[in-house]
Amino acid sequence: MPLLDILQYPDPRLRTKAKPVTNIDDELRRQVEDMYETMYHAQGLGLAATQVNIHQRFFVMDLSEKRDQPVCVINPEILSQEGSQDDFHGCLSVGAGISDKIKRAAKVRLKGMDLEGKAFEWELEGLAAICIQHEVDHLNGILFIDHLSRLKQERIRKKIEKFRRQEQA
Ligand code: NI
Repeated sequence: MPLLDILQYPDPRLRTKAKPVTNIDDELRRQVEDMYETMYHAQGLGLAATQVNIHQRFFVMDLSEKRDQPVCVINPEILSQEGSQDDFHGCLSVGAGISDKIKRAAKVRLKGMDLEGKAFEWELEGLAAICIQHEVDHLNGILFIDHLSRLKQERIRKKIEKFRRQEQA
């Protein structure tokens, strides 16, 4: 199974709003397997289809300590959210070492479907709630840095540009 390329900010394809999955077929199952592998290889907690240039509404994540409990959520929908929490966010599409504190709902109710096409509803809090909100944002073309002040966004952009120049040198 191949590792997939993860799109990097400011790639405009990261701004695509993904379309609902209408068919769970072999192709989708293969894409999910590749995304698991890519997520583990990159040591990320989650990966949305948008980040690997697949513009359909699904994401994968694994929040377990041993990294052996992969989860795939198809057509995720946040039904309700309450409270707030502040935590540090990083993102495989924004660059290593770049993270910042942003505000998220403390609790979310998530509706989705698994790879067998079975619908479910989850009540999530803590890190799981943060992760879900982050991945659903991706499917809507939103990055965590969009939630920061303009000044901070500018600083991050400059940092990334500098880092890329050093990488190329
Ligand atoms: Ni991300």
